[in-house]
Amino acid sequence: MDHFLYRDGRLFAEDVAVEDIAAEVGTPFYCYSTATLERHFRLFDEALDGMDHLVCYAMKAASNQAILKTLAALGAGMDVVSGGEYARAIAAGVSGDKIVFSGVGKTDEEIRAALTGGIRQFNVESEPEMEVISRVATELSTTAQITIRINPDVDAKTHAKIATGKSENKFGIPISRAREVYARAAELPGLKVIGIDVHIGSQLTELEPFRLAYEKVAALTETLRADGHEISRLDLGGGLGIPYTRSNDAPPLPIEYGALIKETLGHLGCEIEIEPGRLIAGNAGIMVSRVIYVKEGEDRAFMIVDGAMNDLIRPAMYEAHHDIVPVIEGAPGLEKARYDIVGPVCETGDTFAKARDMEPVAAGDLIAFRSAGAYGAVMASEYNSRPLIPEVLVHGDQFAVIRRRPTLDEMINRDTIPEWL
Ligand code: LLP
Repeated sequence: MDHFLYRDGRLFAEDVAVEDIAAEVGTPFYCYSTATLERHFRLFDEALDGMDHLVCYAMKAASNQAILKTLAALGAGMDVVSGGEYARAIAAGVSGDKIVFSGVGKTDEEIRAALTGGIRQFNVESEPEMEVISRVATELSTTAQITIRINPDVDAKTHAKIATGKSENKFGIPISRAREVYARAAELPGLKVIGIDVHIGSQLTELEPFRLAYEKVAALTETLRADGHEISRLDLGGGLGIPYTRSNDAPPLPIEYGALIKETLGHLGCEIEIEPGRLIAGNAGIMVSRVIYVKEGEDRAFMIVDGAMNDLIRPAMYEAHHDIVPVIEGAPGLEKARYDIVGPVCETGDTFAKARDMEPVAAGDLIAFRSAGAYGAVMASEYNSRPLIPEVLVHGDQFAVIRRRPTLDEMINRDTIPEWL
């Protein structure tokens, strides 16, 4: 459920008419709903009620400072995957003891920054990384808490580009080698092993892959404990999918996911962390765009809009579906028209939807891409010299620009001319 609903045929973000935001900030832009972000965070938090737990928002999904502050105010921790994300989390006021550091390629500098500024744990993804964290921690005369990410070799049944838990993926260490790697970690100075980490992929629409992975984690916990390791914390990753269409086959709910965690892992007495990103931010954001032209092709009509693949890359990159709706609905009973919905970028891949049936639009009309809050703004680029589009946050009947549109000069003046030119 989200807070983007129609009132008398006009799309609202909470209590603000989307057309009013468009009139003030121009198009295209991202618009987020505070109430939806909060609701989704609470669903996860409540799903783990009764267990010692921390919901660490995977801020790669949407990392604007205002979004981080909104979630941090509810007690969220953060899952970061770069020095940049770590700095963003700290800048938003999140304390280090609520930040977990994931990712396969942490550099010396990133590790040092986190150890200096405070970090809850590193989720270690390889043996070389373990050695580096040990060395940097020793140099800083400190101890780094770590979990080790195991790769359970489970098929997440999602798009190949976002599946991470199969043995052919670059993530974690093979579960078959876990005992050996934990034994090595226990020998290294500057490290304190506290648990296990797992993340099998994103946009999972069934619970079964989670069950398979978590059962393997439960068995491994017992084995590693018998080997003498302290396993007191389990980081279970993110990945629960969202409904991208209004169809009936909606993915499982956080409450069902929480029940599965309790069932498979509850008996171990561990502190539980989860790292949801998409489910918190995805349906809490839309991208609003304006129709520039409707062009009649030979066998189809093209709706050419002012948003493009550089602003929302998911359809081009993952063949992702986003519902696309008018901001002002036409008269009831209007016959639908069929469009290929495309952006202005000079690539055929700049196509948001093919043969999409929706009510007829004309140049100047506003449309909204739903479910664009996660992996939307954060994956944008300035391809075709199109400045990054603004982000707006709605809160009840108020809205604020939380990242403004740069001017063309700002964009150009980041370049510098060498003296020989
Ligand atoms: N934890 C780790 C270690 C991850 O790698 C990810 C996502 C998450 C948590 C959060 O997963 P979520 O709850 O959001 O599914 N750009 C792609 C998605 C990439 C996901 C990468 N890792 C997309 O637009 O679909």
